[in-house]
Amino acid sequence: MTSNETRRSLPLPPGKFGLPVIGETLSFFGDRDFNDKRQNQYGLIYKTHIFGQRTVIMSGSEANRFLFTHDNSYFTSTWPYSTRTLLGPQSLATQSGNEHTSRRRLMAQAFLPKAIAGYLPGMEQITDRYLKQWETPGEMTWYPELRTYMFDIASTVLIGTETGSETAYLSQIFKTWCEGLFSIPINLPWTQFGKALRCRTLLLEKIEEIVRRRQQETGPRTDALGLLLAAQDEEGNGLTLDELKDQVLLLLFAGHETLTSALSSFCLLLAQHPQVITKLREEQQKVGFTGSLTMEMLKEMAYLEQVIKEVLRLIPPVGGAFRRVVKSCEFNDYQIPEGWMVWYQINTTHQDSSIYPNPKEFDPERFRADRAEEKQKAFGFIPFGGGARECVGKAFAMLVLRVFGTHLVHGYDWELLPDQNLELITVPTPSPRDGLRVKFKRRG
Ligand code: HEM
Repeated sequence: MTSNETRRSLPLPPGKFGLPVIGETLSFFGDRDFNDKRQNQYGLIYKTHIFGQRTVIMSGSEANRFLFTHDNSYFTSTWPYSTRTLLGPQSLATQSGNEHTSRRRLMAQAFLPKAIAGYLPGMEQITDRYLKQWETPGEMTWYPELRTYMFDIASTVLIGTETGSETAYLSQIFKTWCEGLFSIPINLPWTQFGKALRCRTLLLEKIEEIVRRRQQETGPRTDALGLLLAAQDEEGNGLTLDELKDQVLLLLFAGHETLTSALSSFCLLLAQHPQVITKLREEQQKVGFTGSLTMEMLKEMAYLEQVIKEVLRLIPPVGGAFRRVVKSCEFNDYQIPEGWMVWYQINTTHQDSSIYPNPKEFDPERFRADRAEEKQKAFGFIPFGGGARECVGKAFAMLVLRVFGTHLVHGYDWELLPDQNLELITVPTPSPRDGLRVKFKRRG
């Protein structure tokens, strides 16, 4: 038998397709235990039908390794129709093949170590401004504030534009746009998808204004938008206005939505574990931090890095991602047919008790050099994905988390207010249901 015949004779993964047309899409989003139930019944690989597609859901470090090492051979990037439409056709996340490789190389320049170091002073300034601003109300619902703060960082540092008084308004439009990313794609004025599409139009108009303004400037800038504006293909052509708009939209979205979730989880988990705050303050004293950071100082803060990693392990901002199968393949004696979708899981990988004992516990010590639980299995710690599509903004994200974490812990105390629902909404990214209500004050 040829290997193709062998593959076809292998069974499909176990599982059910559910209802006609919608399959199991509603429970995929509505049922928090969707995966646990199926994993208990079928194991680490099973089939389902979501977003109108037959889909294989795979969990565990072995599955991650298989997927990340076969991106572009067996798999290509894909997203549900709602996500693709809202991101646009010329966004790095939806591009594939050579186009993806060349655009990724270009964008990655905005996240090289030299560029990252250049972002530090601007980030510190904005962070300082927001922390001072939050002192006055004393009590606040933090999540929307963190979103505005992050949007300010992303638009100022990556796109070089100070949106000023418009920041809160634009970050609100982004929120409605994000809420449509994984929705039923019916475009009506009152549906999530319809509202999100209108927000896409508004955002693209704003981005076009920013791009045109930058095109008039003399002298290049080295932020992400500067690199995109200066980019040329082999024939010397620059990116079209439509592509520039889609790529800027992606950077602004990826640059603030995931990070808002990570920042809020950092604030929540530290409020629940004050002993971690004490240890972070001790480390700050040891490295001589008194209010202004250097990259060298940040590198010395090993405990801070452990804490951030543990936040990203326990509450990963991105739960997983889709791929489309472009060539039939096999995994664990099951066939994965061409044309299907695959969803890899970050959440469940991080809850694997063979890698992380007591996985539900918040324990930054797991990442201490002598324990290094995450290194026990390749692709066992994947908050930023892996392989050819690993998060291009990873270094930027880690810098934001370090800068915010350091200044917050150094200068402020915060407490969770009673009577609030801290259960996490998980779509599009995890956030506490009541928006994280806190008492916030400068340290005495
Ligand atoms: C804590 C924050 C962040 C997390 C957890 C995160 C997570 C991820 C993950 C899991 C992927 C891979 C998706 C896949 O496998 O298809 C990804 C891709 C991506 N991320 Fe991030 N991200 C974060 C922050 C950022 C930031 C700050 C930026 C940019 C400023 C960014 C830009 C991107 C882009 C452009 C891609 C697509 C890469 C490609 O398809 O080649 N992300 N991110």
